Amino acid sequence: MAGLRTPLCDLLRIEYPIVLAGMATGTGTQALAPTPTELVAAVSNAGGLGVMGYGFSTPQEFDEGIRKLRTLTDRPFGVDFMVPAKFADVGDKTNNEIRVDIERDYPKHVEFVRSLVEQFNLPEVEIPDEIPGESQAMIRQRVEVMLDNKVPVFACATGEPPDYIVEPAHDQGMQIIGMTGAVRHAARQMAAGSDIITAQGTEAGGHTGNITSFVLIPQIVDYVKPRPVLAAGGIGTGRHVAAAMALGAQGVWVGTAFLASEETNIEPPHQERILEGRSEQFTASKFGDGMQARSFESEVKRAWEASDLQPLTMPLQAILQEPLTVAARQIGRLDLVSNSAGQVAGMITERRPAKDILMGLVEEAEETIGQLRSNTSAAMT
Ligand SMILES: Cc1cc2nc3c(=O)[nH]c(=O)nc-3n(C[C@H](O)[C@H](O)[C@H](O)COP(=O)(O)O)c2cc1C
Repeated sequence: MAGLRTPLCDLLRIEYPIVLAGMATGTGTQALAPTPTELVAAVSNAGGLGVMGYGFSTPQEFDEGIRKLRTLTDRPFGVDFMVPAKFADVGDKTNNEIRVDIERDYPKHVEFVRSLVEQFNLPEVEIPDEIPGESQAMIRQRVEVMLDNKVPVFACATGEPPDYIVEPAHDQGMQIIGMTGAVRHAARQMAAGSDIITAQGTEAGGHTGNITSFVLIPQIVDYVKPRPVLAAGGIGTGRHVAAAMALGAQGVWVGTAFLASEETNIEPPHQERILEGRSEQFTASKFGDGMQARSFESEVKRAWEASDLQPLTMPLQAILQEPLTVAARQIGRLDLVSNSAGQVAGMITERRPAKDILMGLVEEAEETIGQLRSNTSAAMT
């Protein structure tokens, strides 16, 4: 056990430096649902840090989710949501009002989505207005819920945590995790006051940059020293965990590998693609929600890439596509909606309880570190 314990474990009050990445996931008719509390609790109860990715839900549902989580674990946990830097200013507009703006301002995009709906024989559906958008007003309410509940850890999914989060969060002893995909992000995260920095390589599932984990992690480690770094992007085995430690990380932030858990809420056909897919089938595109993200290949992504259109800014691109995504979900065409996952899916083949996934990472990492020691000392004799 000693091989894997790092100072980050003391900082977060956890046994193993393995963190469940924040993941909001598509399920049923919901484009983005929060991470199931059962998965978050399973990771925290097994000695890692469970982090609940926030999906499109109301502040009240977010509050209920945190309260439910507390009934399932008395260990530390975190919550994760986006505070995007590049955000179309939609103010307090409802999604229906935003849709009217999109029709007026982006007729070619609207026409393209209509053509896709026809091409895939999707029904015309009514889009519910109550899907809460990712407006700045929603984010403020979410922050209040997080602070009122005294959540131990906040992970800022994109962009830097703003002062109105950092100051009150630090006042109540919270740890803040900031995300980076390039060294320039690290400078901004340090200036903003993030306590722990995640270095996420392009291999990752979900929103992602362009630099590989192998190249990015040591650069971020050197840049943010002595702040601890969580390595992310492509970590699915204990060998990856050991390699991340060798690159200077104090822990790992693991997403895709936990999508193969029994506790995940992703749809069975999406989980099957993860268990059966090859690494090259998990491709990056900006056409999902306006920011580059990695997911399983789909005909919709290919059609956008082949068009001459540019993706709209968040949150407009996702709202633009709702006639397609809502209809596809309603009739079970899950191949047409985003199945976010990273390249490491190419080597994940088994569905297991989250606890077993976590312990598998821990045990294989310790074994690998032990083997490295004996291999290198044998080579020197
Ligand atoms: C299905 C899915 C949903 C994600 N949703 C979020 C999210 O809501 N917030 C966030 O910070 N990152 C999100 N991510 C990115 C993960 O937090 C994490 O950085 C990434 O999964 C790490 O790379 P890996 O998938 O190779 O383990 C998501 C990733 C996936 C695969």
